[in-house]
Amino acid sequence: MSMGKKLMHWVDARFPATETYEYHMSKYYAPKNFNFWYFFGVLSMVVLVNQLVTGIWLTMMYNPSAEGAFASVEYIMRDVKGGWLIRYMHSTGASAFFVVVYLHMFRALLYGSYQKPRELIWLIGMGIYLALMAEGFFGYLLPWGNMSFWGAQVILNLPAALPVIGDGLAEWVRGDYIISGITLNRFFALHVVAIPLVLVGLVFMHIVALHHVGSNNPDGIDIKKLKDKNGVPLDGIEFHPYYTVHDMIGIVVFFILFFAVVFFFPEGGGFFLEPPNFETANSLKTPAHIAPVWYYTPFYAILRAVPDKLGGVIAMGGAIAVLFLIPWLDRSPVRSIRYKGILSKIALTVFAISFLVLGYLGATPTTPTATLMARIFTVLYFLFFLLMPIYTSIEKCKQPPERVTGGTDEHAN
Ligand code: HEM
Repeated sequence: MSMGKKLMHWVDARFPATETYEYHMSKYYAPKNFNFWYFFGVLSMVVLVNQLVTGIWLTMMYNPSAEGAFASVEYIMRDVKGGWLIRYMHSTGASAFFVVVYLHMFRALLYGSYQKPRELIWLIGMGIYLALMAEGFFGYLLPWGNMSFWGAQVILNLPAALPVIGDGLAEWVRGDYIISGITLNRFFALHVVAIPLVLVGLVFMHIVALHHVGSNNPDGIDIKKLKDKNGVPLDGIEFHPYYTVHDMIGIVVFFILFFAVVFFFPEGGGFFLEPPNFETANSLKTPAHIAPVWYYTPFYAILRAVPDKLGGVIAMGGAIAVLFLIPWLDRSPVRSIRYKGILSKIALTVFAISFLVLGYLGATPTTPTATLMARIFTVLYFLFFLLMPIYTSIEKCKQPPERVTGGTDEHAN
């Protein structure tokens, strides 16, 4: 026996290394018909690693104090060797994270990936999404730019809308009467330690839950129903090497696009890095138009669509909370949109359009017409969920096939 094999035997007797590798990689049978939409899970992981690595390097040079934060970011950009690259990879990575996660979530909506038995994968995913939103929010204060300050000002004032406890709660969150270095310090701790730990833990659970029940696929059918004599699903292929190689293509294409932004378009037209953030936080100078970063704007539009502040906060919270309920709102006998009826197709299209329009409206200043539109699209957003139990149970669905459609046959049979 070779030295390498002997070493593996020794390890395997003490730690399930080979067993874990086989369970999750070389003997994990994934449906052979994964398509474009299935790139975004692995891309989310790639971006997560990018954020962790560049974040650790930024932390080495960043100064978490109201006096030093802004200057330390300028120092990273101008004086630290390669500092600009690390910072732009991190700031672009934040937007890229939400691009890939939104596409990843949309895939789940398309193919009913949240339906039984994958409810927990979805719920853990929603936990990840919340953690990601918190991570982005805490991180945005750290450069201590003027939009960092005023953006946080708007959001940290939201708890004040609650009756009785509101003001005390807002003060408790800030740790001061105004947003100050104290607030910056706690945001730093949360952004750099607490939330990343939660995120990594949740992503681990997400994959454990996924591999326990097996992946869904664009046809939304259960590949475990038809197995060969060795117990291998007829429509499954080993994750490694087939999907590891396949995913490399997606990762390379992603990196080409990602670095095109990092090198040539790092501000993202003011959407990735907003103009007021190029000057330091100034409590006496309110930016003409305060808007959160693009990935929060659909919810910001919902907040602003409601005339009453508390009502707005409830609507905004509700818009996120209702996503948790999807596995139980969808009553369809089939998973994939390919076999669902026309009502589901219309509903999902209207929902996607509403989300995009709300995103646009949340990024632009309010006008009476914009407010009216935000109200209409807020209603449409909620109707997608509230009517889901009805339209998914009354519509006529197509019969899904026995075997998955598309993919290559060579490896499966
Ligand atoms: C850091 C963020 C995330 C990472 C790293 C991640 C990772 C992954 C990976 C690697 C897969 C398997 C590959 C694939 O199906 O694309 C997956 C599947 C899945 N994820 Fe995520 N995910 C993240 C966030 C989310 C969020 C926010 C949701 C929804 C709220 C979600 C819901 C799902 C569902 C339902 C599946 C099963 C899909 C299927 O089998 O069709 N994930 N995730």
